[in-house]
Amino acid sequence: MILKEDCRVIEQIEIADSIYKLTVEGDIALTAEPGQFVHVKTGGREGPLLRRPISISSINREARQFTMIFRAAGRGTFLLASLLNGMAVDILGPLGNGYPLSEAWPGSTALLVGGGIGIPPLYELSRQLTLQGVKVTHVLGFQTASVVFYEQEFSALGKTYITTVDGTYGEKGYVTDTIFKEQIDFDTLFACGPIQMLKALETGFPNKKAFLSLEERMGCGVGACFACVCKVHGDPDGRLYKKICSDGPVFRAGEVVL
Ligand code: FES
Repeated sequence: MILKEDCRVIEQIEIADSIYKLTVEGDIALTAEPGQFVHVKTGGREGPLLRRPISISSINREARQFTMIFRAAGRGTFLLASLLNGMAVDILGPLGNGYPLSEAWPGSTALLVGGGIGIPPLYELSRQLTLQGVKVTHVLGFQTASVVFYEQEFSALGKTYITTVDGTYGEKGYVTDTIFKEQIDFDTLFACGPIQMLKALETGFPNKKAFLSLEERMGCGVGACFACVCKVHGDPDGRLYKKICSDGPVFRAGEVVL
């Protein structure tokens, strides 16, 4: 069930350069699943008109709390980063279809690949896969050392490789370089990040079971405005489409045109 509620800020911390971790309390936490997102209204009536889609990075049902990790890069997210403990924030969610946990079975191996601000939803996914008895490996790509976050948190769950484009931390290069160099084997692939990264994974592992979360600028977030449509594979007329916000954001590799 989608809720629109005023959530209470429990904690806000800058965990890397312009990267914020915001934990809030609200009933959205009771039904949220890994890979889902929320739509956040920032700045009240004076704030930007459109809500900001932000993925859910961890869920604590017992405490009715969930956490979002976001980059402060525009007016809306700067306003979000300025919220203090105890303040209220208008949130719609949980939205979209998350990662299908049942596609990974106990004793199997899962490779979780994230790029930049696409990394956060993989954290809750990794926690839940681990609880399910799946062996997880993470390959996380960042632009540069100053924006690296959650290395310890991911490492506590499974083997974790860090890459940076400029080589200032971890392996220099892209996530796919490391996956091939380390010859990481896996049964199921889960990924979230820039479209070029997702394309490289889809073409690099054509015979693997893979689930990709598409990051996309959204309007309504609930399937009503068509701002987020993408084409479906195998449709010669190009008339079929899916909405990233409500059909996704997670799709099986090969399902939609990246
Ligand atoms: Fe409006 Fe997807 S954002 S339909």
